[in-house]
Amino acid sequence: MKVILVTGGCGYIGSHTIVDLIDNGYDVISIDNNSRSNESILLGVEKITGKKVKNYKVNLCIYDDVYAVFQENPTIEGIIHFAAYKAVGESVENPMMYFENNISSLINVLKCAQEMKVPRFIFSSSCTVYGNPDVIKVTEDTPQKKAASPYGLTKQIGESIVENIVVTCSTNGVLLRYFNPVGAHPSIAIGELPIGKPQNLIPAVTQTAIGKLPQMTVFGADYDTKDGSCIRDFIHVSDIAHAHTLALQFLEEKKKENICEIFNLGTGDGYSVLEVIKAFETENDIKLNYTIGPRREGDVIAIFANNNKAKKILNWAPKYSMKDMVKTAWQWELSLQNNTKNQL
Ligand code: WQD
Repeated sequence: MKVILVTGGCGYIGSHTIVDLIDNGYDVISIDNNSRSNESILLGVEKITGKKVKNYKVNLCIYDDVYAVFQENPTIEGIIHFAAYKAVGESVENPMMYFENNISSLINVLKCAQEMKVPRFIFSSSCTVYGNPDVIKVTEDTPQKKAASPYGLTKQIGESIVENIVVTCSTNGVLLRYFNPVGAHPSIAIGELPIGKPQNLIPAVTQTAIGKLPQMTVFGADYDTKDGSCIRDFIHVSDIAHAHTLALQFLEEKKKENICEIFNLGTGDGYSVLEVIKAFETENDIKLNYTIGPRREGDVIAIFANNNKAKKILNWAPKYSMKDMVKTAWQWELSLQNNTKNQL
């Protein structure tokens, strides 16, 4: 079996990617210290796939502990590195925490990959690397502007580190630039589990709708956009997950060494924050309690993907619609409430 190491495997995108990898014949192990995740999500992975996934509860900022995992698993054929803090607003409040965690962990994993000659490395990057682009439908070649947040800067730095290291060792790399991952696996056995007050839009919407939050705030409706709110390219997390399997297969076919390819993972459609709220209300027949508040520092005004390269080279095509995204997100929130009730 091809063993793939997923760092951040208990996280939102990590857990969905593990499901897709297993569905496609890979054996998977995870490293996740659960500082921003809950290991229970792997029970949901097992429910879907029938496979128990081993998680090493290791802090990726401690090299010796990371290396010990690689020594215990010498047949790792690929690494998918998700583990990182990823909240734009939080990174503005605590930049050093983001630089220390996101960069140190990446360096340790790459050092182990070099030492153990792991042939494939996929880096979880983000559309935030574009900053506030001059053209809002971006290709992988769109010039990167100054990162709008320390989070975005850690992704810009991370991409440069991966690109530089890959060419110096026998590894092939892929950088996957996610736009806005939302929704839950169609089985509703896994989904997003924000720790504490949700930073991202969709969990804030669903937690407000279910009553965990009294009201949500739209961070600014005075931008120069179609309705004044920010524009994003929301994409179903399972579409993002499948792109990782396709990226691995792309790398497996590569005989040439030292490549590092970049792919945008978005639907190619831009939705405003207010449009997403409207879609949520309509699809789920819910009136959401929200208010318009001040802009959030670090927010990019508008961005969405030109995804032609991933479609052409990875043979990837997003299959979930905005309706699927807001519907599965809501069904997941309802399942969390039911699980909590069952535990009482
Ligand atoms: C989206 C819009 C907010 C919460 C995310 C991930 C990042 C990266 C890119 C993958 C913004 C607005 C939000 C709320 C709001 N993806 N909003 N009220 O900042 O685009 O970044 O996608 O790696 O990791 O964090 O996503 O969901 O935080 O914000 O109005 O309560 O929703 O202002 O315009 P963002 P987000």
